[in-house]
Amino acid sequence: MNLNSVIMTLEYFIFVLTTFLMTGAQSEVTEVFAEAGSQAVLPCRYSSTSYDSPGILWIKTNKGTVWRKQKSGLQFWGSSWSQKGIQRVHCPHSQFERGDYSLQINSVREEDGGVYSCTVEGQGDEYMVMLRIIRVSISPSVPISGKDVSVTCDVTPGPQGPTVQWMLNDSPFLPQTGILETNGETFDSIVREKATARLTGNWTCVVGYKGKEGRASAALSVKGIIQPATDDTKVYAAVGSAVTLPCVFTPGLIPALPVWEKLQPVSHLKPAASRLPASFSPSSQSSQAPWDKSAILKEVGLKDEGRYRCSGTVQGQRLARNIQLIVATIDNSVPSKKKGAGTLTCQLSDTSEVTEYEWVHVTYDPSATQSFRSIQKGKTLSLNQVSEENWGEWACRFSGKEGNLGNITYHVQMMSGLSGQKSSGFSYTTAAVVGLSFLLLVLLLILAQLYKNHQRRKGIFQYPALETIVHTISNEREERERNPMKK
Ligand SMILES: *[C@@H]1O[C@H](CO)[C@@H](O)[C@H](O)[C@H]1NC(C)=O
Ligand SMILES: *[C@@H]1O[C@H](CO)[C@@H](O)[C@H](O)[C@H]1NC(C)=O
Repeated sequence: MNLNSVIMTLEYFIFVLTTFLMTGAQSEVTEVFAEAGSQAVLPCRYSSTSYDSPGILWIKTNKGTVWRKQKSGLQFWGSSWSQKGIQRVHCPHSQFERGDYSLQINSVREEDGGVYSCTVEGQGDEYMVMLRIIRVSISPSVPISGKDVSVTCDVTPGPQGPTVQWMLNDSPFLPQTGILETNGETFDSIVREKATARLTGNWTCVVGYKGKEGRASAALSVKGIIQPATDDTKVYAAVGSAVTLPCVFTPGLIPALPVWEKLQPVSHLKPAASRLPASFSPSSQSSQAPWDKSAILKEVGLKDEGRYRCSGTVQGQRLARNIQLIVATIDNSVPSKKKGAGTLTCQLSDTSEVTEYEWVHVTYDPSATQSFRSIQKGKTLSLNQVSEENWGEWACRFSGKEGNLGNITYHVQMMSGLSGQKSSGFSYTTAAVVGLSFLLLVLLLILAQLYKNHQRRKGIFQYPALETIVHTISNEREERERNPMKK
């Protein structure tokens, strides 16, 4: 502190003291928070008006006059509040008759923080306001995923022991490393984290002090893989279906050397890549943006389950995301004893996230609109396959804490037997149905051929008597030709 500011502080204390002594009442300091860059309103309200146009004085402690109005209506601005004819402070005249002499400050800055006082001619107490500026800043402004980022909330001047709460996208955020410190006049709350896509969004710092609350926000965006947002994201797919393994970089960020790998199970000592599935197709579609490196598995097989890794280099930093593919199947078992009864079991290659299974019967009305009827909860469904109402499409829906994870459908099909009696069987989705029909057709053709061959062979010996007759006749003729006398 230099001498000048000591004197100023002293002056201020004397000023406060005299005010206190003169009015005989302790003037409360009203706390006002304002976000940097916004408009602050410093209240100065009295219940009655004494004059139509009183003299008004707004001063800032240690800084002198902010704004002043004489009885005559003449206005004056402090030098730092009026630059190039543009005034940052206003005291709206229209409110005076209601006893409201509040001061508006536009585009507040940290330097604006401090104590202000409002004195109105003919009114008793002066009005004291403490303006505190809150600002949230992010460093570096757009971090690369995996690198350090700090989000800082400054309050100037810093209050003694405020409460600070962080919000990320309107939900409370509990920082792993939070630092509270007083840096000169300023109070800081600093959150240090490793930048991940999870941290992107609107960061809000909520400061509470003496019953008043102030807040400020800043948007954080992280460069890197934005989808999936976290590692080991689980993707569910039914056997035979197509699935997209997402891997989307920040728009505009084109990764160098993008690679997709399938990882060996964790049990292996060295994490090595294994072969990608046959139906795996890395991003090559022209419709895909160059930062979208999502891959497609055209037809998921049971063996395709496991962990996949998508990676690419951005500004010298290798970014990678692991994705776990979980494959769903339906096991069908028909116990031999009970005719017509069967069970369907919903199987997932990893059930760690699944909290509930639900069996749904899907029916179609004539206009082909689907309707779902939830039949039961649980992994296994027992069905009477003979019962006509059980035919058709069944879906096993599985869900976790966050809601629906996926579903797998199964067709319980009617097959007509030779005897005309209806029986039913289970069959897998279309591919399996086509396969089965084809087999049946081949079998039928073979059978037909066998039958034909059998019939042909049988045809030769079908009329043994006739053959004998023919034979006899020809023998007789021969004999007659040999002995023409014998007649
Ligand atoms: C951020 O959140 C705050 C408080 O929830 C809100 O007032 C502000 O408008 C938000 N900003 C953006 C850019 O969404
Ligand atoms: C199964 O999932 C698909 C795709 O999300 C959805 O369109 C379908 O309605 C779901 N089926 C059931 C029975 O929930």
